[in-house]
Amino acid sequence: MQRSLARLGDPLDTIATPALVIDLDAMECNLGAMAVFARSHNVRLRPHAKMHKSAAIAKAQIAAGAVGVCVQKLSEAEVLADAGIADIFISNEVIDAAKLTRVAALAGRITLAIAVDSILGVDRLAEACKAVGGAPNVFVEIDVGQGRCGVSPAAAGALAHHVVSRGLRFAGLQAYQGGAQHLRGAAEREAAARSVATLVREAQKSITSAGIACPLVTGGGTGTFVFEATSGVCGELQVGSYLFMDCEYADIEPAEQAPRFEHALFVKSQVMSRSASHVVVDAGLKAYAIDSGLPRVRGRELEMVNYGDEHGILKPSGSGSAADLPLLGETVWLVPGHCDPTVNLHDVYVAVRGGLERGVVEALWPVDTRGCLI
Ligand SMILES: Cc1ncc(COP(=O)(O)O)c(C=O)c1O
Repeated sequence: MQRSLARLGDPLDTIATPALVIDLDAMECNLGAMAVFARSHNVRLRPHAKMHKSAAIAKAQIAAGAVGVCVQKLSEAEVLADAGIADIFISNEVIDAAKLTRVAALAGRITLAIAVDSILGVDRLAEACKAVGGAPNVFVEIDVGQGRCGVSPAAAGALAHHVVSRGLRFAGLQAYQGGAQHLRGAAEREAAARSVATLVREAQKSITSAGIACPLVTGGGTGTFVFEATSGVCGELQVGSYLFMDCEYADIEPAEQAPRFEHALFVKSQVMSRSASHVVVDAGLKAYAIDSGLPRVRGRELEMVNYGDEHGILKPSGSGSAADLPLLGETVWLVPGHCDPTVNLHDVYVAVRGGLERGVVEALWPVDTRGCLI
């Protein structure tokens, strides 16, 4: 664990850099707005903890009305369960028999659910549950256009039937369309969500034809949750990124009915070198992910033009000039392009209250499931 990153109660200019900083006021606005949205649309909220990887944040989401959280990986579920999260959905497939034994054991301790998309996966899960005693709720995942995991909607009934015939509890459908989340236009995303709803209805029909009830459809992300919530088929939202809002999501046209979310996650960096044409900050590839573009600079006419492992090179942007370059030692707040993989690069969140001009450090939260890949 890193020493001396930040101390509780200290002003934010004392936070050592680079640091992963949460603007708590902004995060709580986002958290509250989504909770109100879900409540007012009569859908359950199960935010995705793959994004923030934090038990403290999961608890805050649950305190605001979420029924539990999603994770993608068994090890994330185990760590969050140990930290006191009692209702977790592994919204992903697990096929390894040894891991499924752990899934069954975890299901004996908390309310657990898991997604499946194969006969083999169901069989192995059923065998693990028989051996261990615990059993998770099982969601059949359908491919609703992303071309990732999931069976075809027409095949959902047969797989649900197999789940039930192996003595497992069929909980419903997992229908997440990751490919639709970042489509720029709101109308494009709405059309994609409409197509998801059509495929879900087809899957529900195939389940009913197999003589099985479909209790719940879970899905949706920050780009499409408005449309899922009003689709008439989706009963639970799995939104993740709304809480921190990265650049990738800031660039899409918001849906009219969506709450406005603010950036709440930043990498605090410091100018460590300055020339006539550019400055270099002390945060590079090891401090932020660049799969969705380089970080942007908050509140200044600067853009990142290049990077190294430990360096970020900034030049004036737009109407900015070299005279606007920050001074040696000045703080520069970076907004990550993609929050999930950025978070996974850090051990600790520094949570700041009172904004990024005059705030103080209110909490230090471990990134509990950092590196939980199995
Ligand atoms: C299955 C699943 N559900 C929900 C989400 C949350 O999406 P977002 O962070 O875009 O809100 C993801 C993100 O990748 C996901 O894979």
